[in-house]
Amino acid sequence: MPNITYQLPDGSEQTVDVPEGQTVMDGSVRNNLPGIVAECGGSCSCATCHVHVAPEHMALFDEPMDEETELVEFLDGACERSRLSCQLIVSAECDGARVVVPDTN
Ligand code: FES
Repeated sequence: MPNITYQLPDGSEQTVDVPEGQTVMDGSVRNNLPGIVAECGGSCSCATCHVHVAPEHMALFDEPMDEETELVEFLDGACERSRLSCQLIVSAECDGARVVVPDTN
């Protein structure tokens, strides 16, 4: 099962197993990690699941849809590595991926 490492808002790190087909958001919520609120439950409408993907791991995930891009544009602390973690579907290739959870969710 792929491992995903989350750098949490307090600077600590947690690495958890996330089954293929689930999202980076699912991996956080199911393991009760702090920082990813996921108010809308993954329907790409709340943007409280914002993460920064490590530059070398950006290509492991599908390109964002327009809805995601539009939401991310208006987020505090957004950058070119910003993604909504509910849209990051985990595949076998994602094993070892890292995301930073900002303290602004
Ligand atoms: S959980 Fe709401 S946009 Fe990702």
